[in-house]
Amino acid sequence: MKIAFFSTQPYDTAFFESANQAFGHELAFFTQALDPATLSLAKGAQAVCLFVNDQASAPVIEGLRALGVQTIALRCAGFNNIDIEAAKLAGIRVCRVAAYSPESVAEHAVALLLTLTRKTHKAYNRVREQNFALSGLLGFNIHGKKVGVIGTGNIGQAFCKIMLGFGCEVTAFDLIANKEMEALGVKYAPLTDVLASDIISLHCPLNEQTKHIINAETLGYCKKGVTIINTGRGGLLDTKAVIDALKNGTIGALGLDVYEQEEKLFFKDLSNTIIQDDMIQRLMSFSNVLITGHQGFFTQDAMEKIAVTTLDNITKLDQQVALATGNTVV
Ligand code: NAI
Repeated sequence: MKIAFFSTQPYDTAFFESANQAFGHELAFFTQALDPATLSLAKGAQAVCLFVNDQASAPVIEGLRALGVQTIALRCAGFNNIDIEAAKLAGIRVCRVAAYSPESVAEHAVALLLTLTRKTHKAYNRVREQNFALSGLLGFNIHGKKVGVIGTGNIGQAFCKIMLGFGCEVTAFDLIANKEMEALGVKYAPLTDVLASDIISLHCPLNEQTKHIINAETLGYCKKGVTIINTGRGGLLDTKAVIDALKNGTIGALGLDVYEQEEKLFFKDLSNTIIQDDMIQRLMSFSNVLITGHQGFFTQDAMEKIAVTTLDNITKLDQQVALATGNTVV
């Protein structure tokens, strides 16, 4: 089967070509993101493979249907960028990789957290300039702190386990309490209680209920100086409200792997351009904000699993075989 890959980077090509030796599909890699102007690249393909910032809106899905595309295979877990109703109407199947390596993202959230709490990003630069002074580097222990987790699916659970290992008191907010987490000592509580933690980490999907779950009102429930880590999706935070909260000290530290307007920025080398996005420029101006460009998933282990599972999903859908739990979206 011919599969058209959008938004590809050299590492996507390498991992998918290697995994495809066991499947034998015809793979066409395009660097362009999927949108109305680029969808014609899918001509002749039965499946398209998309990533987090490809936009499969209703008109794009209609265009894909007209080209004969039968499957949209996401090489990621989130599917907020797909118009699900339009896909259903068009009879296009949508699959994803529900759990490739939740630890990869959970560990990245912890990397952001530890960097911010011990200021190793500042120390690294200082020591390189032979400045061994400690003033300004005072951190705080994670041990004994109250950690609030929003969303305890695959990634949230991996994160909770690490935080329990650090000796934290972990409370969580989710639509469904997870029994395994409760048995390990995680306490489920209303969102307002979970927000009153020393550290908050977001691991829920972006949807109508969770868009701007961190906003001016909900920030009012936070402890002054709270550390917030977001490796979920940028839209979970109302960025403007977050900037205000950083300015008035409500947020003491912020670790972001995702950003509300990341489509125009992330996965690109923009070092020789003038960035027009004033919000990210403002965020980058705070010394207590650490931003990475959506790299939580980016480990050798996760990339291998993503490539194999994506190709397996496409193959199974073609053969009308049921997918592994959670991988079917439509
Ligand atoms: P999952 O589907 O296993 O878990 C999501 C959890 O969020 C579920 O327990 C669900 O009940 C809960 N949830 C749904 N709606 C909620 C609401 N309104 N309030 C509170 N909880 C709610 O997903 P997984 O694999 O844990 O991934 C979570 C998110 O992480 C993904 O949706 C994606 O946006 C993001 N992600 C980020 C990556 C990165 O590289 N930074 C990589 C992979 C995923």
